[in-house]
Amino acid sequence: MNELLVKRLNEQLVSEYEAVFNYLYHSTKVKSDEIRKAMEDFSRDELEHARMLISYIISLGGEPVFMMPKVNQEQDEVQVLIYSIAAEESAVKMYTMVQQIIDDVEGREIIGRTIRVEEEHHRKLEEILNKVKEFYKGKRGAK
Ligand SMILES: [Fe+2]
Ligand SMILES: [Fe+2]
Repeated sequence: MNELLVKRLNEQLVSEYEAVFNYLYHSTKVKSDEIRKAMEDFSRDELEHARMLISYIISLGGEPVFMMPKVNQEQDEVQVLIYSIAAEESAVKMYTMVQQIIDDVEGREIIGRTIRVEEEHHRKLEEILNKVKEFYKGKRGAK
């Protein structure tokens, strides 16, 4: 068994649990419908990633970790977006590093697909953040 790979995949699994619950939590707190919808969708995607990691770890003969993560309880919409963007950036970086220690094509592809989803989350969050910033700028200008 590739112990190092299992260890790294389990670390990612913990990050995915955090992502599932952070998006779920924030989706109940934000006021914007667009942000809430995105966070609900992302929460489901992150759960899919957790499921993917669990079966990958089991297929390698490892033991997947199960735990309840700590939730980021930031309330401010802009801060939530900034926090989430940083988390997605970190996910892409970590998965890219994990991908480098995988020696089978199929495993690398599974992680590659996950990286693309995280990149899409990142893109969408940046888009929303820019819109929110424009909205506040407009409000200030109207005064
Ligand atoms: Fe994820
Ligand atoms: Fe993500």
